[in-house]
Amino acid sequence: MKNLHNALQLKQLYLLKQMGYSYTDIAPSDLENEPTELPDNLEELRKFVENCHLCDLSKSRHKVVFGEGDPHAKLMFVGEGPGATEDSTGRPFVGRAGELLTKMIEKVLYLSRSQVYIANIVKCRPPRNRVPTPTEALTCRPYLLRQIELIQPRIIVTLGATAYRYLTNDESPIGRVRGQVIHTENYLLVPTFHPSYLLRNPSAKKEAYHDLLTVKDLYEKYK
Ligand code: URA
Repeated sequence: MKNLHNALQLKQLYLLKQMGYSYTDIAPSDLENEPTELPDNLEELRKFVENCHLCDLSKSRHKVVFGEGDPHAKLMFVGEGPGATEDSTGRPFVGRAGELLTKMIEKVLYLSRSQVYIANIVKCRPPRNRVPTPTEALTCRPYLLRQIELIQPRIIVTLGATAYRYLTNDESPIGRVRGQVIHTENYLLVPTFHPSYLLRNPSAKKEAYHDLLTVKDLYEKYK
């Protein structure tokens, strides 16, 4: 919870700055009263996240895109952040990239979206679909980590470089790590390309298909 605590502290310092303080040696007040423990069930966590104003993305969002799917899913997909359609509907991966992801889930894995869980690194849309800043990603990450703790998937597929980077703290290029099976303490992680990248670079679909076959094998083994 250190990230969340730091984000809360930062928020208070910004507030003091806006009020005209340029220096303070007083401990930011009331921090002890802020809930820094995240809820331990998904629905409570959703409500908590829907009220989040810890970063600037909360100012321009229309809806928080918490995530959706089977709360006990063995397989979880993690993307970067909501786009325009997701921001207006509050659901992850429902735009053009989402249509491709849905096809990948249905036609390659022979699963439905309701059998897996789909979430993102940041829960609010970055303006003009830019990549989330490190501050935004790290501020939001505790929510994803708690989702993972609660859902307990056996396999996590990260979609694109941002999801891989912030889930693993590894900055290796996605082209180098995609398709690997990475053993972590609690789950197996398989990085692959982001569906938006596949829409722009259809020739990479072959590699993504192979990555999904790897995921399918793992799913059969561990479901
Ligand atoms: N791209 C993402 O990374 N996530 C979404 O939910 C939609 C598009």
